[in-house]
Amino acid sequence: MGRFSDPQDPLFQALNSSLAFDYRLAPYDIEQSLAHARMLARTGILEQEDLSRIEQGLEAVRDEIEADRFAIQPGDEDIHMAIERRLTEIVGPAGGRLHTARSRNDQVATDVAMLVRAHSLEARALLHALMTTLVELAERHLDWPLPGYTHMQRAQPVYLSHHLLAWFWKFRRDSQRFNFCMTATDELPLGAGALAGVNFDTERMFVAEELGFRAIAENSLDAVSNRDFVLDYLSAAATCAGHLSQLGGEVVLWSTTEFGFCRVSDSFASGSSLMPQKKNPDAAELLRAKAPRIVGRLAGLHGVLHGLPLTYNKDLQEDKEPLFDAIDTLELCLRVAREMLAGIEFDRERMAAAASDESIAATDVADLLVRQGVPFREAHGIVGGVVRGAEERGKGLSELTDEELRELAPALPPDGFRALLEQSSWLESKVSEGGTSLARVRDQLSAARHVLGDDTWGLAPRGPKQPARPDAQGGESPR
Ligand code: ARG
Repeated sequence: MGRFSDPQDPLFQALNSSLAFDYRLAPYDIEQSLAHARMLARTGILEQEDLSRIEQGLEAVRDEIEADRFAIQPGDEDIHMAIERRLTEIVGPAGGRLHTARSRNDQVATDVAMLVRAHSLEARALLHALMTTLVELAERHLDWPLPGYTHMQRAQPVYLSHHLLAWFWKFRRDSQRFNFCMTATDELPLGAGALAGVNFDTERMFVAEELGFRAIAENSLDAVSNRDFVLDYLSAAATCAGHLSQLGGEVVLWSTTEFGFCRVSDSFASGSSLMPQKKNPDAAELLRAKAPRIVGRLAGLHGVLHGLPLTYNKDLQEDKEPLFDAIDTLELCLRVAREMLAGIEFDRERMAAAASDESIAATDVADLLVRQGVPFREAHGIVGGVVRGAEERGKGLSELTDEELRELAPALPPDGFRALLEQSSWLESKVSEGGTSLARVRDQLSAARHVLGDDTWGLAPRGPKQPARPDAQGGESPR
């Protein structure tokens, strides 16, 4: 470097180098460089011969990286410099022409946007698989009653299908959040140069089309400093991980001896080293525990970005580790959640026994009074008194005598009251849209099936050139 007379301090190099983690940008960086070089040749900025050399050289570098034969050098500060250094070793001076009309500032923003888009797509695919499993489970457990809970108290009975589908819609919203992340990566940063634009009349839209971006970033200063799409991914991932955490927490609770509503398969549980009887739902516990880690990554990046002046600052290099860790954590959790749910067994008897607790019919009894003309507020109080009266007598609701009923709730017709308890009609009476009656759950299932069957999943398809997920094996360290 012509400007410097002293070599870099190894301590500074250790702080400054990003190769240990930005290695996984390599496939995007190569795609981007190919598109950039083709644009330079189209516009006459680069000779055709140099383009051919650069193309061959970049393919050779790609092969080395894919075969894990790519050797880094001590001076390689980041993946962008390492690839260019190796390209120049392979093809000679033509390699040095690749960086014409480009800066690492617009280059890195472009790589990261490409990666965020690829992993938003991947998150959607994994969510689709998880949601498919939930629909299948709901179909298999259509009319299994269990208590629904509020405040962790038995509240009103519901069907297991209805309960499982509640998770479906949460994950549906997550997938929509990842759709938004893809929209947030629509505009190509490349061509912004270091910050002000470049001294050549480039064709940015050509590069955008080659790489599957819809448009170009309108402002070069914004383009090199924008990391909103990373925040958007982390935010979507944090909410999604929160849902997985709640789901995991429920599986932990339901698989206790006390609840006994479900059993996780042996392949997603572990034993105790001391207590031979134990089967621990570790997978569900870890789903529960991973969410705050992703929230922490989101909060961390907000911290890095806040107060940063325009435009590029080296602080921005700190966007990558939080992003990569969140991607790896979320994708693993989504896979685990699907597999764990696919192998789960529900206990019909245990759930039914809990759901036949007569006190959870209290709302239905109140509505019986409402049909007699009693205002709901008043009915609520009367039925509360009936439940308390039964409890004091050590009886179930249906064991109250006509006399006791007359005393506790004169307005309550004893026959209608008993019929209601006998029929266990409390589930089928929930006929309102979105309710738990079987007819409504069937409507819901077909709506869910419709969501899954829409193959664009609410998003128009993108340009064909995008590598689907070339950094899938990413994370392994460079040699
Ligand atoms: N490794 C850097 C990053 O991730 C690349 C951009 C460096 N640009 C610069 N002007 N030093 O942000």
